[in-house]
Amino acid sequence: MFITFEGLDFSGKSTQAKLLYEYLKKHKVKCILLREPGGTAISEKVREIILDREHIEMTPLTEFMLFSASRSQLVSQVIKPHLKKGYVVICDRYYDSSIAYQSFGGKMELNHVLQVNNIAAGGLVPDITFLIEITPKAAFARASSRRNSKDRMENKNTAFYNKVYKGFKEIAAKNRKRYTVINGTLSIDRIHNIIISIVNKKLSK
Ligand code: ADP
Ligand code: TYD
Repeated sequence: MFITFEGLDFSGKSTQAKLLYEYLKKHKVKCILLREPGGTAISEKVREIILDREHIEMTPLTEFMLFSASRSQLVSQVIKPHLKKGYVVICDRYYDSSIAYQSFGGKMELNHVLQVNNIAAGGLVPDITFLIEITPKAAFARASSRRNSKDRMENKNTAFYNKVYKGFKEIAAKNRKRYTVINGTLSIDRIHNIIISIVNKKLSK
């Protein structure tokens, strides 16, 4: 089973992906936890290039190609082999992030993103995707309470995040079968309980 988490930066995805991973481990389910961009040595290096604040000259196409390169390596090297061995694979972001950020938020044409997504993913579609939904305003409020400096992606403006937010909602509406949209302002425990009830239901099928 392939489970992905999507949402704006600071929506709480990583928190929930990790809690799900720990829960499954505790219940002796074979699973791995990954993040995008990243998850392999090559993909982590690509991540550094993408997020480097000094790379202000990066074009939208280069950015999208780098996300796709990182994803392609992760899918081939880690995700597909683990799915074959019967693991539950949990990924913090996947190709829907490219649709939301690079197409809805950025300058990439939707059709191009969909095509390259499919190529980079080798056709691999998640079984379950959780969209942890918080508004850009709530995301900015969480961001401002954090002390670390922002990376290149987090430096984008409010208009960008409003478009990304709208993008995620549209993607979820178009892919109802695999999507569960969860209110990200609920408590961490409540969100976790919603997630495990959905995953358990699917695992018992
Ligand atoms: P993401 O991976 O989506 O960027 P994180 O899981 O890193 O988000 O969470 C971002 C911040 O919000 C962290 O400080 C985290 O503790 C906090 N947080 C996560 N989930 C919730 C929640 N349900 N309610 C309030 N704060 C949360
Ligand atoms: P990360 O620090 O992992 O952010 P988060 O904790 O919010 O997931 O940084 C990943 C950034 O890259 C984030 O701003 C979202 C962005 N992104 C894209 O723009 N396109 C993509 O395809 C992916 C996977 C991420």
